Amino acid sequence: MMKRTLMASVGALSLCAAAASAQTTVGFSQIGSESGWRAAETTVTMQEAETRGITLQFSDAQQRQENQIAALRSFIAQGVDAILVSPVVATGWDSVLEEAAEAEIPVVLLDRMVDSSPDLYLTAVGSDLVHEGRVAGEWLVEAVAGEPCRVVELQGTTGSSPAIDRKAGFEEGIAGADNIEIVRSQTGDFTRAQGKTVMEAFLQAENGGADICALYAHNDDMAVGAIQAIKEAGLVPGEDILVVSIDAVPDIFQALAAGEANATVELTPNMAGPAFDALAAYFADGTMPEKFIQTESRLFTQADDPQGEYDRHKDLGY
Ligand code: AHR
Repeated sequence: MMKRTLMASVGALSLCAAAASAQTTVGFSQIGSESGWRAAETTVTMQEAETRGITLQFSDAQQRQENQIAALRSFIAQGVDAILVSPVVATGWDSVLEEAAEAEIPVVLLDRMVDSSPDLYLTAVGSDLVHEGRVAGEWLVEAVAGEPCRVVELQGTTGSSPAIDRKAGFEEGIAGADNIEIVRSQTGDFTRAQGKTVMEAFLQAENGGADICALYAHNDDMAVGAIQAIKEAGLVPGEDILVVSIDAVPDIFQALAAGEANATVELTPNMAGPAFDALAAYFADGTMPEKFIQTESRLFTQADDPQGEYDRHKDLGY
């Protein structure tokens, strides 16, 4: 911890040296490839590194925190200039972050948060995950206009910050709307396959889906899997069961254009751009970034030219 304080105050000296060296090397511990959004974030991070002449050491953790911790330790042993990490779950990071601090290697969190002290990382780049859930909930309140609505929820990876915060945000969004009730809630682990499997179970448990008014999925991939399950159950997604989710990947714009999804909240896959900007300023003269660099989240519905949005999004690395 003392070392971290040291890094925050006088780290500029060693980091100026890093900036002045021929090549900056950044280690990136990615969660895996559970969703279209995640694949896009990986692509964009590699592109942003290449554009800036940064050597990126990429490590795919295949959804396992122990693999991420091992990757961070390997980056520390190699003496990289900085580390990017998208933490699969929120807890269990203290020791390895302390090791990075001891080695005076700045760590930037991408898209997910940790429960550790903010002193242990340089900054975090991400969206307001609670806000995203709230926007989804408020959209549903407006869409059902006071009619009774039984909601099923597909949660993201258990213990991950987006699963925790998007659930809390949605509950805030529907608070006060007594007509809306979450009747089933289960993890689909942010994957299309799990989204479909869990939705099948929800449909079976809810009178073949006749008792479900809406699906809230913590990401678009689970929603796309669930849409398939709804269709196979003989129902019309987007009409018999409203579908609201988060990410704004190209596939959900196709579903919106086809009338099979109703709303999505955008999460930009470009977390690396702001992260590299913050690191560049820090390397140049020790400028400390804000602890949280927030990216934008906006709502898209069927009224927002989904085909055009598909065309605009499809080449962004998804
Ligand atoms: O942490 C961001 C979430 O992780 C995205 O919404 C989801 O698609 C991804 O897997």
